[in-house]
Amino acid sequence: MSDAPKKLHIKTYGCQMNVYDSERMAEAMGAKGYTLTDDPAEADMVLLNTCHIREKAAEKVYSDLGRLRPFKEAKPDLKIGVAGCVAQAEGTEIMRRMPLVDLVVGSQNYHRLPEMAEAAARGERPVDTEFPAEDKFDLLPERPVQGRPSAFLTVQEGCDKFCAFCVVPYTRGAEISRPVSRILAEARKLVDKGVREITLLGQNVNGYHGAGEDGDWGLGRLVRELARIDGLERIRYTTSHPNDMADDLIAAHGAEPKLMPYLHLPVQSGSDRVLKAMNRKHTAEDYLRLIERIRAARPDILLSSDFIAGFPGETDQDHRDTIALIEAVGFGMAYSFKYSPRPGTPAAGREGVPAEVADARLHELQALITRQQRAAQDSMVGREVGVLFEKPGRLPGQWVGKSDYLHAVHVAAEGLAPGVLARVRITESGPNSLGGALAGG
Ligand code: SAH
Ligand code: SF4
Ligand code: F3S
Repeated sequence: MSDAPKKLHIKTYGCQMNVYDSERMAEAMGAKGYTLTDDPAEADMVLLNTCHIREKAAEKVYSDLGRLRPFKEAKPDLKIGVAGCVAQAEGTEIMRRMPLVDLVVGSQNYHRLPEMAEAAARGERPVDTEFPAEDKFDLLPERPVQGRPSAFLTVQEGCDKFCAFCVVPYTRGAEISRPVSRILAEARKLVDKGVREITLLGQNVNGYHGAGEDGDWGLGRLVRELARIDGLERIRYTTSHPNDMADDLIAAHGAEPKLMPYLHLPVQSGSDRVLKAMNRKHTAEDYLRLIERIRAARPDILLSSDFIAGFPGETDQDHRDTIALIEAVGFGMAYSFKYSPRPGTPAAGREGVPAEVADARLHELQALITRQQRAAQDSMVGREVGVLFEKPGRLPGQWVGKSDYLHAVHVAAEGLAPGVLARVRITESGPNSLGGALAGG
């Protein structure tokens, strides 16, 4: 056995929570001497951090595993691990179907990854998809140097809402919130390492109710406390459920300048009939009224959402109701997906709408959303916005950052670097990004 540092390649699928988890797993393995590599060919261990949300996402894992076979043949010591939501949902099946997989670690057991890797090195094939009582994040090593101005911080995990189409309550388990003190400590550490923007993550992040020194805190109070950290300039959070938008969180959007004017608030459908069948527990009207209250607190907020096209039982009228809701709100950003039946969810057994009908509806939603996104982006021209710079752009002297409203912005100017937060006057709107110049410069 050589003493050379071992190399770990991680491929991350799915949502931002997986991105955060992959970072934490890399740190846990880093403490055991592994360094990260982008190249699976030079890796000693490959970890796929998977997503189960739609069938395509889950199936991709099996094809990617197939693609790893030549690497394993070339290097029999290579260990292959599957983590994340597919691991959680189908761990045993993966082990059975894919003999090249050496370990399966479910979404709540990442603190066990180093010891599982050791077991795999001994020739075992460990699987852990339990939902343990303890919080995995408490058992993972502390966060080391970040070197990036923007970081994710998971504050809440799991979901108790059980929307009829969704696997998350099964793959991530019941809702839990991390205690306030742990979140503040992690945030301070990130800021000490140069982080200036933190995005708080949770499957139902606005349902956050973590233990504080005087009882449970909601997300609004957590945001206000985080905003007191010197050097932390921007706070965001995602993903939220409409039923958990508490008054003090809405108020924070008006009162707390560090809380960025962008909100991802999935509605899924504009039809009350479909919302009921989805078990969303809100109506289209509830959503519209909520948007009014949020806009009253922060008129310039950029709203984002998720939509599902072709949910079982969706009629043309239901689809038109969704179109009407999108037109009524005017989203700055939105994602739409064709309904995908997921095993074990209540909607899986219901009769679906014909694929070509769902495709046509999805297409129509996407066309409308694209027009709205473009209009929101174009409306930035002539305005002055904050931009947090992250990396060099493609042209010499150019830097790219994110605006307060989460648009990518290109600026060519002296003195820019990752972590610089500057006022920028927007001068142009391109296909995927804005261009501008430093304000007052
Ligand atoms: N917790 C978040 C997001 C969960 S998953 C929320 O409550 O909104 C992200 C998005 O994937 C969902 O908002 C939904 O639009 C979509 N999605 C989830 N399950 C799906 C399925 N079975 N088929 C198609 N889209 C789905
Ligand atoms: Fe899934 Fe609904 Fe929970 Fe969101 S709220 S994670 S869509 S079950
Ligand atoms: Fe996918 Fe799991 Fe996230 S199913 S969307 S990786 S919570």
